[in-house]
Amino acid sequence: RVSTAILISGRGSNMASLVAAAAEPGYPARIDLVVSNRPGAPGLARAEAAGIATATVDHKAFPDRESFERALDARLREASIALVVLAGFMRVLTPWFVARWEGRLVNIHPSLLPAFRGTDTHARALAAGVAEHGCSVHLVTADLDAGPVIAQETVPVLPGDTAETLAARVLEREHVLYPRALATLASHIARNRA
Ligand code: GAR
Repeated sequence: RVSTAILISGRGSNMASLVAAAAEPGYPARIDLVVSNRPGAPGLARAEAAGIATATVDHKAFPDRESFERALDARLREASIALVVLAGFMRVLTPWFVARWEGRLVNIHPSLLPAFRGTDTHARALAAGVAEHGCSVHLVTADLDAGPVIAQETVPVLPGDTAETLAARVLEREHVLYPRALATLASHIARNRA
């Protein structure tokens, strides 16, 4: 199974859905490490409760992005990680880090990419008046939220929706989409190295 790390910054509900999926027999990825850039992120306690090793690499402890990423990269290599999964990880990664993990770095984004890259996707989708919204899993490239899309899930935008109700509807689909997309990617990586 492909040794996988999940990077988080907060709540960690996607991380929890991936950990649950990876506990199923035959799942092609093994979650070996959860790393947060924010000390005390609620997701860390959730990971620990599930018996997953955790680490904190606090970006505020470093003078610049690259030194933060070098520390993060060192932690991942120390754990012999082969695949890095961003799940609510709210730091933009530099081209250096992205190149180092090319093809083995994946993200979930709460919109139907290429629509609504960046933040506040649910409020922006409502403001734009779209009928459908959703989430995308994509490979990470140096351009923010612009890498090749691996999988998407769509939800309707309903009358009376707020950013919160829409976010909750999308999040439910994220929890289904991400485990499925990670399985596809991990199987692909396992086949290529066999
Ligand atoms: C999720 O909705 C995820 O798609 C989004 O943050 C939330 C994290 O929730 N990610 C981004 O906006 C990335 N730019 P979680 O911590 O409960 O998984």
